[in-house]
Amino acid sequence: MKVVVRPASGLRGRIDVPGDKSVSHRAAIIGALASGPTEVTGYLEAADCLGTLRLLSALGVEITRKGAGHYLIRGAGLDGFQEPEDVLDLGNSGTTARLALGLLAGQPFWSVLTGDESLRRRPMGRVAEPLRQMGARVVGRSEGERLPLAVRGARPLRAIRYRSPVASAQVKSALLLAGLYADGPVTVEEPSRSRDHTERMLRAFGADVAQDGRAVTIAPGRDLHGRSVGVPGDFSSAAFFLVGGAIVPGSNLEITGVGVNPTRTAALEVLREMGCVVSESGLEEGEEPAATLRVEHRSLRGASVGGARIPGLIDEIPILAVAAACAEGVTEIHDAAELRVKESDRIRAVVTELGKLGARVEERADGFSILGGPLKGAVVRSWGDHRMAMALIIAGLVAEGQTVVEDTACIATSYPEFLPALQRLAGEACLTPVP
Ligand code: S3P
Repeated sequence: MKVVVRPASGLRGRIDVPGDKSVSHRAAIIGALASGPTEVTGYLEAADCLGTLRLLSALGVEITRKGAGHYLIRGAGLDGFQEPEDVLDLGNSGTTARLALGLLAGQPFWSVLTGDESLRRRPMGRVAEPLRQMGARVVGRSEGERLPLAVRGARPLRAIRYRSPVASAQVKSALLLAGLYADGPVTVEEPSRSRDHTERMLRAFGADVAQDGRAVTIAPGRDLHGRSVGVPGDFSSAAFFLVGGAIVPGSNLEITGVGVNPTRTAALEVLREMGCVVSESGLEEGEEPAATLRVEHRSLRGASVGGARIPGLIDEIPILAVAAACAEGVTEIHDAAELRVKESDRIRAVVTELGKLGARVEERADGFSILGGPLKGAVVRSWGDHRMAMALIIAGLVAEGQTVVEDTACIATSYPEFLPALQRLAGEACLTPVP
C-alpha cells in the first residue's frame, strides 16, 4: 500500500489516540502472570499487541475479547503456563520478543521464538545474555544473539545484579519478569533511565519493586493479583499529531487521554524548546498519568538533543526529525545509536527519506543533524517501519506539491486507524491511500 499526500491547510479538531503500545503489552503479560482475572480496557488492537495476546494464548492463557480494546485475561499464575506446541512467531514486535524471553526464562519447558525479517535482524543478546547468567538456556542463530531462539527456562533462576550497557526498557522489563522466578532479588542498573511502565504495573499487581536512582530491584516471593487496567492513549502516536499541528499552518488541535508518564514524554520538552506551544490539561493521576494535549501552529527553531534525554524520546525521533526539517536553524540528534537497531535503521532511514524531500541532513554514527528549510514533494518509502511511514506522511502535509509514501501497510503495527484519523483532522483530500 502507498499513500499520496498533498499540502494541508491545517490540522483541526479533537482526537483520541489509541491505547499505549508499551502499556498494552505489559497489561497482557503481567495479567497472565497474575492469579485471578485481569480486565483490560483501552488495549491497543494493533498487530504488535495482538501478537502478544496470541503468544499468551499459545502458552495456555485464556483470553476473551469483550469489546473494542476490552479483554478479560484469566491469569495463569506464576506456575500455570503450558509448553507451546509450535514455534511462536512474534511478527515485528521487539517488545513482545524481549519481554517473552524474560517470561519464558522462568518456565520449566522449551519454547522457540521467531519473528519477521526486521525482528530477526534485531539484537536479542542484550536480553539473552543476562538471562543465561540467571540460569536459563537460550540458544539460537548468530551465537544465540538473534531470532529464531530456543529457550529452556529454569526454576529457580539465580538472583543477579545486572549492569545493562544500554538504557532499554525491554532489557530491564525482561529481567524484572524473570526476577519473579529468582531465588533472591534481581537488580537492573541502566546507564540512564528508560520508561518505567513495567515497574509501575508490577507494583500495582502486588510485586515488590524498588527504585534507587538508575537501579531497579524486584524481590521475588509475592504473588501477583489480577486487577483492572485502563490503558492510556499512546504518547508516541500522539506525537505525530503534535508535530503535525506544530508545522502545518492554520492548525489547532486537541488530543485527549494521552499517557504522560514522565519517562516517555521528553519529546514534549524538546518541542517546547523548538518553540512549539503545547498545553496540558485535565491531568488524571493514576498508575499511568494521562492528560489532554493541545497544540497550535508556530514557527519552530532547531534544538540539540542527546544524553540522558534520548531514552525518553527514542521512538519520537523520526517525527522530531520532521519538525527539525521544518524549523529554522540546525537540529542535532546525538547519543542515539540505538536508532540503528529499531524496526529499521532509523538514522539511515530518516537521513535518506527526508533527504529525498529536500531536507539538508547529515548522518552521524549516533544520530544526525538537520538544517531546516522548505520541503518538496517526492516519492519516499517507509523501510517497513511504522514510525517512519507516519512521520513521512506528516512531512508530506507541508511539502510543496505531492508526496508519495510507499510501503505503508506497516502502520498497522502500532496504529491501524492512523490514516482515517489524520484525514478527519487534515481533510480527506490531503491523503489518498492507494492499495
Ligand atoms: C519499549 C522500549 C523501547 C522502545 C520500544 C518500546 C517498551 O525499546 O523503543 O518501542 O515497550 O519497552 P528499547 O527497550 O529497545 O529501548
